[in-house]
This record gives sequence, structure tokens and C-alpha cells, in this order.
Amino acid sequence: MMQDALKAMVARAALAYVRPGEIVGVGTGSTVDKFIDALGLLGAPLAGAVSSSNASSERLRAHGIRVFDCAEVGELGVYIDGADEIDPNGCMVKGGGGALTREKIVAAQSRQFICIADESKQVPVLGRFPIPVEIIPMARGRITRQFAKMGGRAQLRCVDGEPFVTDNGQNILDVHGLQIEEPLAFEADVSQWPGVVCVGVFARQRAHCCLLGTASGVRTLAFD
Ligand code: A5P
Repeated sequence: MMQDALKAMVARAALAYVRPGEIVGVGTGSTVDKFIDALGLLGAPLAGAVSSSNASSERLRAHGIRVFDCAEVGELGVYIDGADEIDPNGCMVKGGGGALTREKIVAAQSRQFICIADESKQVPVLGRFPIPVEIIPMARGRITRQFAKMGGRAQLRCVDGEPFVTDNGQNILDVHGLQIEEPLAFEADVSQWPGVVCVGVFARQRAHCCLLGTASGVRTLAFD
């Protein structure tokens, strides 16, 4: 089955986790776009959503779904988002779309993280996908050298020859060549480097459950 069809399948399956009358946390990316479209067609009324990017907010509003300011709401029941990679424990690499910081914030404010992904995202060890790291631009040189010491090659993300600018006005380094054997320790370490806004390894905010799109249907992976 085409990857796009797998994404649509898990996006629809995620509706089962959305309770009418609640505010749902919504991530970013092509799989989430399909989830938002499915939400738009949902008969039962939602109170609204908290979104992790300007792009998702726009799409939610286009479907008539109210978008709440994350700072104005309490704990959310469920956060639904895609991933660039997911390991056997539910730890993920995220930020391919550049929204990692807000994604981690909304995930941290939610009781349950439901990851929606096609089976190509499943990996034994994180790191084949370059690790996105949102940084304060003036720290780029030193952070690049720190990753080099770990064996990583950090590249400034560019679009049309210009540095990519996040919704938070910062830049992203994509770090190639790392194998993240201990995601929790890696995340805790890199998160403390001066100038790092957010590292795209989600170990503290790992998924509680993953709806994985496979050729034979949706596989539900529950993580302890
Ligand atoms: C956005 O910043 C990312 O974390 C996305 O969740 C991730 O890139 C998955 O995107 P797709 O659903 O487009 O594969």
C-alpha cells in the first residue's frame, strides 16, 4: 500500500482517541494533516485543539475547529502527532517539519501521546533520520563542534539557500551520523547545552501508544 494511504489509515484510526467535548493536542506534518482533515469531518463536536505549529493551526481553523492558546489551557487528555522515527520503546525522532519545540511543549502538557505513523518510521535504534535540533543562531558553531566530538555531522537546515526559520524565529541543525542507543540520556544531555532550544529526540515525552500503518492494517503498539 502507498505510504500516503497508510498515513490516511492511521489518521482515521486516531479519531477513536478523541473524546467529544475535549480539547485535543494536535501535532504537525503530513500524517497529522490527514488527521486534521478527518477531525474536520467528525460528527461529534470538539471543544477545540491546541496546536504545535502555525501550519496546523491554520488547517484546524480552515475546518472550523477552534484553536486554543497552549498557555491558556490546562492538561490535555491526548496529544496526537507523527514521528520521523520510532523505536521499540516508543522513543521518537521528531522535527523533520521543524515544529519540534512546540511539539514537545504540547506533548508535555498531555496525559497520553498517540503517535501516528506508517511502518517506514519504525527503527531498532534512533538516528538514521538526522536529529533535528532547534538552536539560537549565535550558538551554532559551538554546538556543531560538540556534535562532531560525538561523531555527528551537524548541518544548518536551509530552504532555497536561506536558513530555515522556525515558528519561534530560530534555526535548526540536522545532525547526521549518530546512533542514539540511550535516548533518555542523550536528550537530557543535549537539552542542557547552552543555545539548544530543543532536541528532536522525544524520550521523556515518548509515545504511550503508536498506531502504525502497515499493509495488513493498523497495528497498535502500546508502550509501558
Ligand atoms: C514535525 O516537526 C515532525 O515532528 C513531524 O511529526 C514528523 O516530521 C512526521 O511528519 P510526517 O507525518 O510528514 O511524516
